[in-house]
Amino acid sequence: PAAGLMDTHGRQATDMRLSLTDKCNLRCTYCMPAEGLNWLQKDQVLSRVEIVRLVRIGVDRLGIRELRLTGGEPLVRADLLDIIREIRANHPDLPISMTTNALGLDRRAVQLKEAGLTRINVSMDSLHAETFAQLTRRPFLDRVLKGIEAAADAGLGLVKINAVLMRGINDHEAPDLVEWAVSRGFELRFIEQMPLDADHGWTKEGMVTAAEMRELVETRFVLTPDPRNRDGAPAERWEVRSKDAPDVVLGTVGIIASVTEPFCADCRRTRVTAEGKIMSCLFSREETDLRDLLRSDADDDAVAQRWRDAMWLKPKAHGMGHTGLGADGFVQPDRSMSAIGG
Ligand code: GTP
Ligand code: 5AD
Ligand code: SF4
Repeated sequence: PAAGLMDTHGRQATDMRLSLTDKCNLRCTYCMPAEGLNWLQKDQVLSRVEIVRLVRIGVDRLGIRELRLTGGEPLVRADLLDIIREIRANHPDLPISMTTNALGLDRRAVQLKEAGLTRINVSMDSLHAETFAQLTRRPFLDRVLKGIEAAADAGLGLVKINAVLMRGINDHEAPDLVEWAVSRGFELRFIEQMPLDADHGWTKEGMVTAAEMRELVETRFVLTPDPRNRDGAPAERWEVRSKDAPDVVLGTVGIIASVTEPFCADCRRTRVTAEGKIMSCLFSREETDLRDLLRSDADDDAVAQRWRDAMWLKPKAHGMGHTGLGADGFVQPDRSMSAIGG
C-alpha cells in the first residue's frame, strides 16, 4: 500500500482539517479585523466536487482517519449539507466533525446530523451579551446559545465549546463557563490566544496562560488530570469536581496550551485551506497548491503525491517557544486564523 502523510520527524498526519470558506459572520478580535478581509472570489474556493474528491484521495490513499470541517465559518457555505452527504456516502465510517460559531445552527442542526455529520465544536467565549459583543464585534450571543442547544438536541455527539480567554475581558468568567458547560454535559476547552490575528495585536503579556487558566478554574473547582489518553489532541483534559463534593466528577474541561505547552511533537494534522492549499502546520509559511492539479487532468496519484511531498517537510514545531513571539526566530504567518481554519 502507498505511504501515508509522513514527515521527516516521524509523525504521520491522519487528521484532515478542511476549510470550506474564508468568510465569517463574526469579527472576533483575536482573529479578524473589524472590516473583515478581502474574501476569496467564488472560483478561487474549492468546489463541492473538488472537496469530495480531495477527501476521497486523503482517505483512500493517504491514511486519513478523521475529517474536520472548518472556516472561516463553515455554516455560511450554501452547499454545506450536500458536501457532507457526499463525503458520508463515500466514507460510511469516517468521523466528520465541524468547528463553527453556531450562528444559524438552530435551523440546520437536524439536517446536519441527517447528512452525516458526527460531532460539533462551537466557539463561544462569553456568557454575557456585552462581553460577547465586545469580543466578536457582533451582538449575537442569543443566537449562538440557541445553536448550541439545537446541536445537543439533534444528537450531534459530545458538543465541545471553545473559549479563547482574553486578559481583562472574559478571563474572570472562567469558573462560570465551566459551571455552565458541566451542567449541560458539554466539554469546555480554554484556548491560549495565539498570534494569528489579522491585526497583529497579540502580546505575550496579554495572553492568559494555561497555568493561569487552571488557577482561575480552581478558584471554584478542583481539577485533576483526566486519565484518558490524550491521543495527539491539542487539549489536555482535566476532571472537574466541586470543592464540597470531591468524589463526584462533574465533567471534563480541556486546556489548549499551544504557546506555553506546545503539542507539536504528537501532531497528526494536515490542513487544506479554502482555496486548496496544503498547510503542513497552523504556522506554516510554506503552502502547497493542490487546486491547480485538481483543475488539470492530473490523476489521483499525482494529487496524493503532491500532498505527501507537502507534508514531508512539516516543521518540527511552531517555534514560539515558552516566551512566545520573537523566540527561536518565530515569525507570525501572513494568514489570520480565519483564513487557515483554526
Ligand atoms: P477535537 O478535540 O477532536 O474535538 O478537535 P480539536 O480540538 O482539534 O478542534 P478545534 O477545531 O475545536 O480546535 C480547537 C483549537 O485547537 C483551535 O482553535 C486551535 O486553537 C487549536 N489547534 C487545533 N489544531 C492545532 C494545531 O495544529 N496547532 C496548534 N498550535 N493549535 C491547534
Ligand atoms: N488564538 C487561539 N484560538 C483562536 N481561534 C481563532 N483565533 C484564535 C487565536 N488567535 C479559535 C476560535 C475557534 C477556533 C477555530 O479557533 O476560538 O474556536
Ligand atoms: Fe469567525 Fe471563528 Fe474567526 Fe471568530 S474565530 S471571526 S467565529 S472565523
